[in-house]
Amino acid sequence: MKRILLDTDPGVDDALAFLLAFSSPEISVEAVTTVDGNVDVERGTRNARQLLEFLGRTDVPLARGAAHPMLKEMGSAEDFHGKTGLMDAVLPEPKMRLDRRSAVHMILDEVERLGKELTIVAIGPLTNVAAAILADTDIPRKVGGLVIMGGSFGLTSAGIGNANAVAEFNVWHDPDAAKLVFNSGIPTVCIGLDTTMFPEYRMSRALYAEMIAPKTKRSKLIEGLCGALVERYNGFSLHDPMALAYVADPTMFRLERYNVEVETRGEHTMGMTVVDRRRFAGDVNKKAAHQIVVEVDATRFHRMIADRIAKGG
Ligand code: RIB
Ligand code: CA
Repeated sequence: MKRILLDTDPGVDDALAFLLAFSSPEISVEAVTTVDGNVDVERGTRNARQLLEFLGRTDVPLARGAAHPMLKEMGSAEDFHGKTGLMDAVLPEPKMRLDRRSAVHMILDEVERLGKELTIVAIGPLTNVAAAILADTDIPRKVGGLVIMGGSFGLTSAGIGNANAVAEFNVWHDPDAAKLVFNSGIPTVCIGLDTTMFPEYRMSRALYAEMIAPKTKRSKLIEGLCGALVERYNGFSLHDPMALAYVADPTMFRLERYNVEVETRGEHTMGMTVVDRRRFAGDVNKKAAHQIVVEVDATRFHRMIADRIAKGG
């Protein structure tokens, strides 16, 4: 059983990742924290409350996190995720109460409670994770590891940018937080655009049609979340669900180990995650704390997406 703390900026693909996480028998979601990213943290937290209520999991503690990147001006991805952050999905007014702790305090408490048993899964900007590491610099040693949806590494033809020519949104949104986390030594697995935007790993129109066919509460939610985006982008990139799929079944993925540096300033490259593949960088890469997903068993991955997100496992 993988016991996780899910740090998220819900977000359409974050919502799909919720559906996957809570229908995966391999995963126990111990806590959820929210962070400013796709939409402001108030809306993201409201969305997280609605999703936990939809899933009947208001027993899972939820804490609101950072309302702003560490240093950079705020940005958002409303143009993609819509004003609410959940596109056209309509969910009842949330009632569940928030935990009284901040996200950082919840992360610190969960690390103390679970230690190596805990995996932090960050599918939004890394502001909360960075703040927690600043509060307790032993977290990289104490915790089981970190899995992120984040970065773009030039390791496949899809490893380019989405927030700019070379940077992935979660890192671009708070590059200073990402730099602190990557430099902290915390063992990190990165699910980046190299695979989430790789054509054969995306959700095709056909897979989407299969997922909304049953006309259930879940399929109606998926339709509200993804329908317009599948039309606009001829399919859908399963960014955050791929990170949770890795947690559920790492055997579907092939990883390579590289040291990752983060560009925090750059007229055209801010938020770029840089890996050095020159031959003499070999030793540095061998000792790096970072592993990057470079290949996915598409058939098994898509089956998991269809069975667990659409059908509930
Ligand atoms: O670049 C994709 C990532 O940015 C996903 O986590 C998406 O939800 C947005 O946060
Ligand atoms: Ca996200």
